[in-house]
Parts: sequence; structure tokens; C-alpha cells
Amino acid sequence: MFSKDTDMIKDINKPNNDLKKLPPEVNLETPEIFRACIKANKALAELKGCCMRLPNPEMLLNTVILQESKTSSEIENIVTTQDDLYKATLDEIDKISNPAAKEVILYREAIYKGIELFKNRGIITANMLIEIMQTLRGTQEGIRKICGTKIANPATKKVVYTPPEGETLIREKLSDLEKFINDDDTELDTLVKMALIHYQFEAIHPFSDGNGRTGRILNILYLIKEGLLDMPILYLSHYIIVYKSVYYKLLNNVTLDDEWADWVLYMIKAVEETAKYTLNQIEEILRLKNETEQKVKEVLQSNIYKELTELLFMHPYIKIKVLEDKGIAKRQTVSIYLKKLSEAGILNPVKLWKETYYINTALFDLLSKGIEMKN
Ligand SMILES: Nc1ncnc2c1ncn2[C@@H]1O[C@H](COP(=O)(O)OP(=O)(O)OP(=O)(O)O)[C@@H](O)[C@H]1O
Ligand SMILES: [Mg+2]
Repeated sequence: MFSKDTDMIKDINKPNNDLKKLPPEVNLETPEIFRACIKANKALAELKGCCMRLPNPEMLLNTVILQESKTSSEIENIVTTQDDLYKATLDEIDKISNPAAKEVILYREAIYKGIELFKNRGIITANMLIEIMQTLRGTQEGIRKICGTKIANPATKKVVYTPPEGETLIREKLSDLEKFINDDDTELDTLVKMALIHYQFEAIHPFSDGNGRTGRILNILYLIKEGLLDMPILYLSHYIIVYKSVYYKLLNNVTLDDEWADWVLYMIKAVEETAKYTLNQIEEILRLKNETEQKVKEVLQSNIYKELTELLFMHPYIKIKVLEDKGIAKRQTVSIYLKKLSEAGILNPVKLWKETYYINTALFDLLSKGIEMKN
């Protein structure tokens, strides 16, 4: 006979090969979870509605995804300046020389990859998750083959968890997870399910690296699959990075004590707060865009002002060729436009490599402020 305590104690240094499949045998239909779900679903619906009102969602998608990507990569303490980052978005992936900026751009690619794969298949599969991880790490590596992977607390470096070992076992667990993700018969709220899925994916920890980032993309993909979002516009990593130590602790409490309810509540709260934050940011960006559009109209006295402003908000750093390629005008005219906008203080020209780039300074400041807000 074991007492409950000794029975429950898990050795965090031993591979968690007994990780049970979802759903857990605990009651997750508590009034508290129910209330949290209502609030978060409401915030998400508002965010979704706001995106539908946008004339050109891609304009904002690019900026929000870039923030998501930057923050997500920062979880690994990869620090890259806002400036390097935007410069990198102008380059082809192989040409990006700043490794931190490259990591951010790869994360962005991985989000798009995930969406594309999901749109083709209509379900989320384990193989898709492998491809997402490969994209974000720029590797051909697949499921973990070697033993000895451990998760350490990033602050203390102490081992907190040892994931299951053995490729076949990992594949089995991923396959169970895949079934759970695509099983539309479960009665659980989508957000509760998302929290369960995220824990399970992290606990399986199928890769030698990139599990956190892939798991965060999985959250967004799952919300898209369930129709709670149309686009990957939820800036969710922001919340996870702010409350990173809580995030680590709650994941661990599920493993050690089956403490699911607090974990689920944390994730639902993350969705609610992030949806509100993203909504607010979108509104600020839109306000700025309207303001800029009017200024551009006055300065240029040309009916191209709307399309031009659109592009200035898709690319906070822009060069003549991009505007020319997008059909704004011939090179010479574009160059006159940009000169006038610079003289009016709307753009700031900087010389990089042998080219002149024009920075949409107000947007740039707004986005930088957004990133600083996390502290
Ligand atoms: N106790 C735990 N049980 C299960 N998973 C955990 C635990 N603690 C942390 N994790 C997960 O492990 C992730 C880190 O794993 P890994 O280094 O493979 O991912 P990453 O994408 O490279 O890193 P990061 O998430 O820091 O960006 C964390 O983000 C978290 O999701
Ligand atoms: Mg890592």
C-alpha cells in the first residue's frame, strides 16, 4: 500500500514515460473556469470582429506577427533590436546576417507555414508540428532520438522535468494528442481544450529544441481551427513571457500534482488579456494610419495616398523599389513622393548598405512602445 503522497511523488529526473493521454480525469467544468471562459471568449470575439473591419488585414498581420515572433524568440533570451529586426524583414532569409533577427523571421515563417498546412488539410497533425519546428529552427531534424533531454528552469537552471524517451513512444503520444486535437465530440470549451493541448504537447516535448515555440504556434493554430480567430493575430507570447515563472510552475504542478484547474485558468486568462491587449494595439495602429493617410494626402496631393499609406503600414521600413513594384508609380515619381514625405516629417530616410530606406517613424515608435510594455 502506498499513501497518497508517496504514490503521487514523481521523480522529475526520470523520463515521464507514463504521461497519460488527454483528457485528464478531473472536473474542469467548475464555475470559475466557466466564468473565465465566457470573458475570454468575448474578448476573442471582439478581436476577431475588429480584424474583419480592417480594409487590409495583412497590413496589421505583418506587424503583430513580427511582435509575436520577436517576443517568442526572446523567451530564449534572444535579444534583437527593433531596428535590426525591421531591417531583416527587408531581406531574403539567407541573406540575414544578424542571427537573432534571423530567428525572429524564421518564427514568423513558421506561423505562416502552420496556417498554410492547416488550410490544406483542415486538421492539425503531428507531422505538421514537426514541419513547423523544422521551419522555426531551420533544421531537418525530426522527433528526438537521443535520450537525456531535460527541461531546466531558465532562471535557476535546476532540472524541473524529464520528458518521455524513445522515438516510438513519443510518436504514440503525439498520435494520441493529434486525435484529441481533431476530435470535435469532446464537450469541453475550446479554450479549456487549448490549455490541455498545450500542456500535453510541452510534456511530450517531442523535439530536442523549439518545443515552446512550436507549442505557442499550436495554440494559435488551434484557435483558428476552431473558428475563434481568422488570422494568427493573437499576440499570446507576450503574456507567457511576462508571467514566465508562473507559466513554468503551473506546467510543473500539472505533472507533479495533477493540478489542472489552475493551469487551465492561467491559459484562459492569457487568452483574455492578450486579446484585449492586441485589440487595443490594433486600434492604436488604425488611429495612426488614418492620421497618416490624411497627412500623406495633403503633402502629395495625389489620389495614390491610400495605397501608399497602406504600404507604409505594411513595411515600417520601405525603399523605392517596393513602392515601384507595387505599382504606386514609376521610380522617379516614387522618389519625389518619398522626398516630400520625408520633408514633412512623416518618413525618416536612412542609408543602409547602398540603399536608402524610409522609416515610418510614428509606426515604428508605436510598435517599439508595444514591445516595451511587456516589462
Ligand atoms: N515542467 C514542464 N513540463 C513540461 N513542459 C515544460 C515544463 N517547463 C517548461 N516547459 C516547456 O518547455 C519549453 C522550452 O523547451 P524548448 O527549449 O524545447 O523550447 P524553445 O521553443 O526552444 O524555448 P522557449 O519556449 O523558451 O522559447 C517551455 O517554453 C515550456 O513550454
Ligand atoms: Mg530551446
